[in-house]
Amino acid sequence: MRRFLPLVLAIGLVAVVGILPGLRWLLWQWELNPVLRGRQLAEEQGCLSCHVPYRGTEIPNPNSRWGNVPRFQGGNFMMYGESRQDLEEFIRFGAPRAWLDDPAVAERLQTQRVRMPAYGDRLADDEISDLVAYASAMEGVDLAGGDTVAAGRKLARQHGCLSCHGVEGSGGLPNPDSLGGFIPGFVGRNFADLVENEAEFREWVLDGTSSRLAGNPIVRHFWQRQALSMPSYRDTLDDQQVTEIWKWVQELRRSTAAAG
Ligand code: HEC
Ligand code: HEC
Repeated sequence: MRRFLPLVLAIGLVAVVGILPGLRWLLWQWELNPVLRGRQLAEEQGCLSCHVPYRGTEIPNPNSRWGNVPRFQGGNFMMYGESRQDLEEFIRFGAPRAWLDDPAVAERLQTQRVRMPAYGDRLADDEISDLVAYASAMEGVDLAGGDTVAAGRKLARQHGCLSCHGVEGSGGLPNPDSLGGFIPGFVGRNFADLVENEAEFREWVLDGTSSRLAGNPIVRHFWQRQALSMPSYRDTLDDQQVTEIWKWVQELRRSTAAAG
């Protein structure tokens, strides 16, 4: 037995030390959704250098149609295209087909300072589709629920929910020393574990907590240590406004589930 002691200790150590990273990995898999995957890819592929510019100041782009590189969330997409299809063509070909097929436009594109790179040969189809999901979310193209849940979406934006919970509730933004290491969004599977129904949602938003989870010692351990906590909105949001946000969240979850 003595001979095996180091081995037993080593296995024990791996089990204990490995639990948290393993759990974090699992929680991250549960959090993943097309928009979040697209955001990660956009960082890796350099999209943000051009589209989320330093200090939010658009990069000047002489000879281009509008004189600037469009900033994501700047309300620019409508000047460049109409549909998800156009958006996808930007990503695949660096411009919509209609631009590239027009000799005058194709010629002008040669002379502009900054060109959108074509990513079609660089990325797989599922990666492109995640980028389309992310860019659509950022640019407000074809959003879940459309106008029917516009009130809830607007409230969430106005009150800063998305700075912590990610564009279109896509989650996965860092939260040091929290159980998963990130702030859960509204569309992944973690949401379903943290919010079982509308009453719990209301409690989270109005009180910044969940009385069901507060009873769990492991959850409490991490809540006391994590860098960011859910604020309480009792002074700012009324019942009706929380209902609007809830309706929007339900629509987000429905459309993410439908997209797979
Ligand atoms: C080198 C700078 C650059 C990079 C990197 C870049 N783009 Fe672009 N992008 C542009 C420019 C410039 C335009 C505007 C078209 C034009 O004027 O030619 C554009 C247009 C777009 C548009 C349509 C316009 C809008 O406002 O929504 C989308 C969507 C887009 N890019 C997504 C992406 C994505 C996703 C990536 C990363 C995979 C990316 N871009 C990488 C420069 C860039
Ligand atoms: C400062 C960052 C921050 C802001 C702003 C914020 N939250 Fe949170 N939210 C958190 C954190 C951190 C948690 C806790 C997650 C945990 O501990 O498991 C959380 C939890 C939640 C939860 C339950 C868990 C889940 O999966 O989402 C809901 C619902 C929620 N927030 C909704 C909102 C809404 C609605 C707003 C805006 C009115 C908002 N939050 C604003 C950081 C924030």
